[in-house]
Amino acid sequence: MKICIIGSGYVGLVSGACFADLGNTVICVDNDPAKIKKLKSGAIPIYEPGLGEMVRRNRKEGRLFFSTSVREGVRKCEVIFIAVGTPSRGNGEADLTFVEHVSRQIAQSMPSYRLIVEKSTVPVNTGEWVEHTVKVFNKRNIKFDVASNPEFLREGSAIKDFMNPDRIVIGVKSKKAKDILTELYNPLKAPIVVTDIKSAEIIKHASNSFLATKISFINAISDICDKVGADISEVARGIGLDRRIGKEFLNAGIGFGGSCFPKDLSAFIRIAEKIGYDFGMLKEVQRVNDYQKDLVLKKIEALVWNLPKKTIGVLGLSFKPDTDDIRQAPALEIIEMLQEEGARIKVYDPEAMGKARAVLSKKTEFCKDAYAAAKNSDCLLLATEWNEFKELDFKKIKRLMRQPILIDGRNIYDPVEMKKLGFTYVGIGRK
Ligand code: UDX
Repeated sequence: MKICIIGSGYVGLVSGACFADLGNTVICVDNDPAKIKKLKSGAIPIYEPGLGEMVRRNRKEGRLFFSTSVREGVRKCEVIFIAVGTPSRGNGEADLTFVEHVSRQIAQSMPSYRLIVEKSTVPVNTGEWVEHTVKVFNKRNIKFDVASNPEFLREGSAIKDFMNPDRIVIGVKSKKAKDILTELYNPLKAPIVVTDIKSAEIIKHASNSFLATKISFINAISDICDKVGADISEVARGIGLDRRIGKEFLNAGIGFGGSCFPKDLSAFIRIAEKIGYDFGMLKEVQRVNDYQKDLVLKKIEALVWNLPKKTIGVLGLSFKPDTDDIRQAPALEIIEMLQEEGARIKVYDPEAMGKARAVLSKKTEFCKDAYAAAKNSDCLLLATEWNEFKELDFKKIKRLMRQPILIDGRNIYDPVEMKKLGFTYVGIGRK
């Protein structure tokens, strides 16, 4: 099939590369000329394992193209995916200006039947608005369909998730749209859930909200564990082996971040409010997530006493490992809180230093590795569980630190071993 993807961010670029790898011809469009120039030169604007190689291979084989022109993409391709950003407005609502703008451009460029698929995370009813917008600007009355095909890929394992999905969700109104999308996804051999458009839109927000709820739930339990001296790892294992609960997404820590969970939760709460439902449960999920960050500050203060002039080393800045994405990263929020309290901050992250430099205060000291961040620190905070932090030489770290205090914000170290090495070890809900 000939596919046009409008919006070459994480979702658009990964989807485009993967569709091309499945044998389709794909044009990825973006209105940022610098990004398209970079992509055409073979560089990848984001860090995503395996993506660079996949893009280069498919470009070489003539299946993947880049353009700044929506018109070119829409004229050449029958299936058009909308994968533009849907950022949060001040009130939590999703800003759909880009989706509307692109819908209009598609309407004005369609030479014949087109299937327009929303892939961006959008609130329920967006499909109707896209359809309405295309109708208004589709002066020649060309036939088209709108469909919803939410993406469930995770940063860091996006290609694997795209190629081996648990399910594919397709929200459609016509048989033609269903047949095209079913054929497109057929090679992936995953269950395809075909629904109406609104249900597909809700599936996306409901999935992300459920996962965020799972994380806040285990974080709330971890606080109880802290208070009574129980161990959250054992509790999580004990409940997770019940298949109805499942063991995934039960890692307690400093909270969830990223470009999806915080934004989607806010948007879902706002949509619910607009249609007359007070989603108090999700507000509590947000509250617990915010509290996890305050908790870290409290844990540090309880161990180093006064924060002014104390040095805190922070390992990991990205919102999770294997990505350079720092959007809504808990590490950054914690760093800002610590700096406000007068602490000196030294940081190291394997991939996110460049992006963090642009947003963190000039007072922050960026270090060449974990050992440099630990040197002369009064406390070391593990904020993101990169693999390289699992293999550190803690004897050396202890020698380098001013005070051997370790806050394990992701519960990756063995408390017994750390205590044996002489650290004051504090995890999240661990003995
Ligand atoms: C998420 C969804 O998983 C994905 O399906 C959707 O399409 C986009 O949003 P992503 O934001 O890439 O993907 O990251 P994910 O791996 O889900 O982690 C989100 C956050 O939750 C991270 O900050 C992570 O550290 C945190 N998390 C995750 C926990 O704190 N505990 C866990 O058990 C799991």
